[in-house]
Amino acid sequence: MKKYKKKFALITGASGLLGEQHSIALLEENFNLIITDIDYFGLNRLKKKLQIKFKNKIIIKKMDVSKESSIQNVANFIKKNKINLTVLVNNAALDAKVSKNIKKKNNLENFDYKFFIKEFNVGLLGVIFSVKHFGKLISKNKNGGSIINIGSDLSVIAPNHSIYQDGYKKPISYSIIKHGLLGLTKYIATYWPDKKVRCNMISPGPILQKQPIKLIKNLKKMIPLGRLANKSEYRSAIKFLSLDESSYITGQNLIIDGGRTVW
Ligand SMILES: NC(=O)c1ccc[n+]([C@@H]2O[C@H](COP(=O)([O-])OP(=O)(O)OC[C@H]3O[C@@H](n4cnc5c(N)ncnc54)[C@H](O)[C@@H]3O)[C@@H](O)[C@H]2O)c1
Repeated sequence: MKKYKKKFALITGASGLLGEQHSIALLEENFNLIITDIDYFGLNRLKKKLQIKFKNKIIIKKMDVSKESSIQNVANFIKKNKINLTVLVNNAALDAKVSKNIKKKNNLENFDYKFFIKEFNVGLLGVIFSVKHFGKLISKNKNGGSIINIGSDLSVIAPNHSIYQDGYKKPISYSIIKHGLLGLTKYIATYWPDKKVRCNMISPGPILQKQPIKLIKNLKKMIPLGRLANKSEYRSAIKFLSLDESSYITGQNLIIDGGRTVW
């Protein structure tokens, strides 16, 4: 029997593309899960899919990371049910997809304060709220636990706007939030070290989805390995940073980007 059988991991923004992959990674390591998202139908769908293969306990909770009361409700549920939360994956974020309709809104010349605040509230404030409530719970464990923030290659480099077409620009909010998350990761890593709470970040490069063909071509040229990531290629990092195998690693940023940021 694996030693993590009775431990729980909580994932934010779990209904999305990477949320499912983080879920599989942690289930494979015998964690029980609390999967959270604003998309309750997505959570239900994911739970059904996961429980075909995994018998671990999977609890679904509708939770908006940008609202502290919503996080507090889930934290209260965890306390009330004496759930042993040992891993938190801060994955939720808003990431404007490439589309003609939003291209003007994203441009710095059209900087939209409301759009910025909305993204900030999910991508940074949401992490602070989550760490405040769930990190505190983890800090009460005898052996602490692990907090993993999901950054981006844009946590360490600037977007290259020339890879997009039709004047699309990556919004300034995404760069600020993802760079900010790196600072937050280091801050959290030094906040409860005496309680054995570690905090690290995984910074994925672009994942192959249904991006425009031209964009995929342009991206490939910027990546030494010559391809975009498969969505499953982040699972091993989630496992590693969740487990005691990484017990001496904290405050670090694991960049998984096919080498993009070394060029
Ligand atoms: N997909 C990529 O290529 C890529 C690359 C680098 C980094 N990332 C990062 O990986 C993480 C996951 O990305 P993804 O591709 O799975 O995105 P996604 O859009 O598929 O999933 C994000 C999830 O967050 C949820 N969400 C949005 N607002 C929320 C809120 N207020 N409270 C709770 N949940 C909320 C959405 O409902 C969605 O299910 C993000 O932090 C993203 O920035 C993704």
